[in-house]
Amino acid sequence: MPERLKSVRFHEVASTGAPFKEDVVRGLLASPKSISCKWLYDEEGSRLFEEICKLPEYYLTRTENELLWSIGKERSPLAGTIIEYGSGHSEKVRALLEGVQAYVAIDIASVAMERAALALSQDYPDLKVLALVADITKPLPLPSLLNSFPKPWVAFYAGSSIGNFSNEQARFLLGLIRENLGPGDGLLIGIDLQKPISILERAYDDAKGLTARFNKNLLNRIAKAFGIDISLESFKHVARYNATEGRMELFLECLEDQTWKLGPGVLVSLQKGEMIHTENSYKYTLRGFRALLESSGFRPQKTWTDSKELFAVLYAEVC
Ligand SMILES: C[S@@+](CC[C@H](N)C(=O)[O-])C[C@H]1O[C@@H](n2cnc3c(N)ncnc32)[C@H](O)[C@@H]1O
Repeated sequence: MPERLKSVRFHEVASTGAPFKEDVVRGLLASPKSISCKWLYDEEGSRLFEEICKLPEYYLTRTENELLWSIGKERSPLAGTIIEYGSGHSEKVRALLEGVQAYVAIDIASVAMERAALALSQDYPDLKVLALVADITKPLPLPSLLNSFPKPWVAFYAGSSIGNFSNEQARFLLGLIRENLGPGDGLLIGIDLQKPISILERAYDDAKGLTARFNKNLLNRIAKAFGIDISLESFKHVARYNATEGRMELFLECLEDQTWKLGPGVLVSLQKGEMIHTENSYKYTLRGFRALLESSGFRPQKTWTDSKELFAVLYAEVC
């Protein structure tokens, strides 16, 4: 490794969650079938997501980025240390790094995250960078791992990834984030706002078919992990808005009957028309999300939105 990249430290937090194969078997034996969206991000899934972020239909990244660059100017320096949850390709955080001394990237997708942390460290040679491979839905011992990282700490959770969780799950996750923070620390979080369904459905089912490839890549990941053949043509990407729940839902719809052997004596039958639920993406009102923050140990302090109110970024202090 080149000398100047040695400032990046890598660490894997032992996960208490089920590994990929175990989790997939459990999800596919359940009724209705579902697989956690955290497994969408293997190396290829992370690459496809990066492409999705550049699509004209995917207003989320573009809009959030614009907000973050103005927040970066307004609040510089935002923190001593920025701790990014679900950091992915660590692009958005660049808007916030002016005057910041340290950056911690946390993601379950190790390959993409480590590559991103190295690139960031190359571009910001004075920044102390730690890349943590971990499942953010499990407790993380950050105060002991980061005891030499300068305060204040700001947890950064971008991309409206919080929307992958129901309100109850989101409250639990925000509570975990809160537990790792102390007095004077804060949370900067991006959320997608409620809007006309046509805008949402285009964003999650784009004309180039990248989101379909991203969703179907999960089938490739399953095929590889279990050593089975799965025809991608035998599935259809489905993105639809669930108005009752206020969320976009992604599914893989099975187009022909098939049976997968996922281990000795483990057979999963899929019937034509059956759906595998692969992601939820809740859309918020500002009022509803502020209430969620307040019930999770945070005091919302400032909100930034774009002129069309497509997306919002909120800063909250710990209570
Ligand atoms: C929608 S992408 C967002 C990436 C980046 N934050 C952005 O806004 O562009 C979600 C990221 O969260 C990561 N992720 C999803 N579930 C996770 C989990 N349970 N623990 C850690 N990382 C997770 C994925 O690997 C992926 O990199």
